Amino acid sequence: MRLSIIATLILVVGAGLVFFASCSNEGKVKKASQQGMEKHEMPADWKFTLPKGEPAQGREVFVQLECYKCHEVKGETFPRVAEGQKGVGPELSRMASLHPVEYFAESVIDPNRVIYPGDKEKGYLGEDGKSKMPDYNELLTVKQVVDLATYIASLKEAKHTGH
Ligand code: HEC
Repeated sequence: MRLSIIATLILVVGAGLVFFASCSNEGKVKKASQQGMEKHEMPADWKFTLPKGEPAQGREVFVQLECYKCHEVKGETFPRVAEGQKGVGPELSRMASLHPVEYFAESVIDPNRVIYPGDKEKGYLGEDGKSKMPDYNELLTVKQVVDLATYIASLKEAKHTGH
């Protein structure tokens, strides 16, 4: 009689332990997958940044796409644009000090993302209130966008050597 009580006790405790073990195991599995998810969350300091590009190749793209028809770059020697062919756009020779490189990439792939209050008066906007600058998304590779942005980000106002 006593033996059977002990046996029952052992069985109950044993079953309890097995149950507990499986529970805690489940817990572990859950924890692990939660950790996995945490790994896919955004790092607190994450920010989109452009990889390094090649400014000389960016300059070539600038010429190929005739960006100079609307954008003067002081100190540069781009092909002369006939008066009737000129478009409007900001002069770009001081861009290095004004914006981060990602801004220049954005200017090319999404020209309407940033429109300044004075842009209308400067003639930068069309009738529809949108930038006169076309977007080049169907024409450029990602590398060309990166190189273009790197080129523009390299532009510091040409130093005056005269006077
Ligand atoms: C038809 C004229 C036109 C052409 C062509 C053009 N742009 Fe623009 N661009 C503009 C105008 C107008 C703005 C100002 C309004 C705006 O931000 O979109 C501008 C703005 C920019 C800016 C932002 C300048 C600033 O100070 O915020 C960059 C950079 C730029 N263009 C680069 C380019 C590049 C690179 C090309 C060639 C792939 C190009 N643009 C071709 C008209 C043009």
